[in-house]
Amino acid sequence: MRENFTVCHCKKVTLGDIEDALHAHDHFDSVLAAFEDVKNVTGCSTGCGGCYDSVLDVISELMMAPPTTRGE
Ligand code: FES
Repeated sequence: MRENFTVCHCKKVTLGDIEDALHAHDHFDSVLAAFEDVKNVTGCSTGCGGCYDSVLDVISELMMAPPTTRGE
């Protein structure tokens, strides 16, 4: 399943983990602000840092997605 896709291999953070962390908050001013919060919650991108772009892409995609595609 897509939610089980591992985005950060160092910290074993999946797309679903990022989505959960993101949805714990109502609003973010920017993708970078959201990234900082997701990083603090999940620990993603705190290892080798190689997943940075992937994590940003996932967050951007989730923030742009209309609510109906978020499984809500
Ligand atoms: S893969 Fe995410 S920090 Fe290394």
